[in-house]
Amino acid sequence: MASEREVESIEIALMLDAIKQRYGYDLGEYVPETIERRLRSALARSGLAHFGELQHRVLHDAACFSSLLDQLTVQVSDMFRDPEFYRVFRERVVPHLRTYPEIKLWHAGCASGEEVYATAILLCEEDLYERAQIYATDLSARAVESARAGVYSQEQASAFAQNYALSGGTRAFEDYVVSGYGRVAVRERLKKNVVYFQHNLATDYAIGEMNVIFCRNVLFYFEKQLRRRVLGTFAQGLCRGGFLCLGASEAGPADAELFSDFAPRERIFRRAGAA
Ligand SMILES: C[S@@+](CC[C@H](N)C(=O)[O-])C[C@H]1O[C@@H](n2cnc3c(N)ncnc32)[C@H](O)[C@@H]1O
Repeated sequence: MASEREVESIEIALMLDAIKQRYGYDLGEYVPETIERRLRSALARSGLAHFGELQHRVLHDAACFSSLLDQLTVQVSDMFRDPEFYRVFRERVVPHLRTYPEIKLWHAGCASGEEVYATAILLCEEDLYERAQIYATDLSARAVESARAGVYSQEQASAFAQNYALSGGTRAFEDYVVSGYGRVAVRERLKKNVVYFQHNLATDYAIGEMNVIFCRNVLFYFEKQLRRRVLGTFAQGLCRGGFLCLGASEAGPADAELFSDFAPRERIFRRAGAA
């Protein structure tokens, strides 16, 4: 006799297959332990007793699927997280960017946009924002909308301000936001050169001719094969000598023909065939 846990595992496998067939999202390409843990908490939150019931709801209600997808993929972010990364970016990557008349940067998996605005602030301070185009994309429609809104809590803003100073920020962080009702909103001038849209790294094409791709804290949710495929997409999307920035605890790209180390401790890599 199968145990309750084994029956649940069968249900989970069926549900992932049903999602793939119905919506085209292959969650089997994500790290299974994370997906399973998050599915269990989604089931608990739904008030339903079994995955079979959740599957039925998800299959018949696209809004329910969107909300489940948001719960399965982790949409937390931060501004100037890993301040040393931003310090090195400012000191070592910015001089290269300065040599281009136009700069294209892609935040792939931007969640609620904090890193997008950290980059926008940094580019403003380096007098590069006016020649920059920033693409902010995420799998989640809800994440894209909250990135576009750029509204954060006062507590978050205090943490952002601390990290900003540690990263070598040269002004008062408060200059970049408007405060009110316990929240802060990113100033419109930081959004001027940002375009936001939904993009699935697992299935969609690269956005081309990028000088920098940021994809921090996204790839570690992916299984090896998907990770390798996405790194291939980034290699296609970067111009020669373009920079790829990954999260602090993420392994760098293994393919030396595509990428070389630039600042490996800060997880900054360079498209091979340097410009
Ligand atoms: C932990 S957040 C990282 C946010 C930000 N890059 C940072 O480091 O602060 C991971 C983001 O990856 C997004 N994501 C997950 N799978 C994705 C996929 N296949 N395509 C695009 N984005 C994806 C999630 O929706 C989530 O917003």
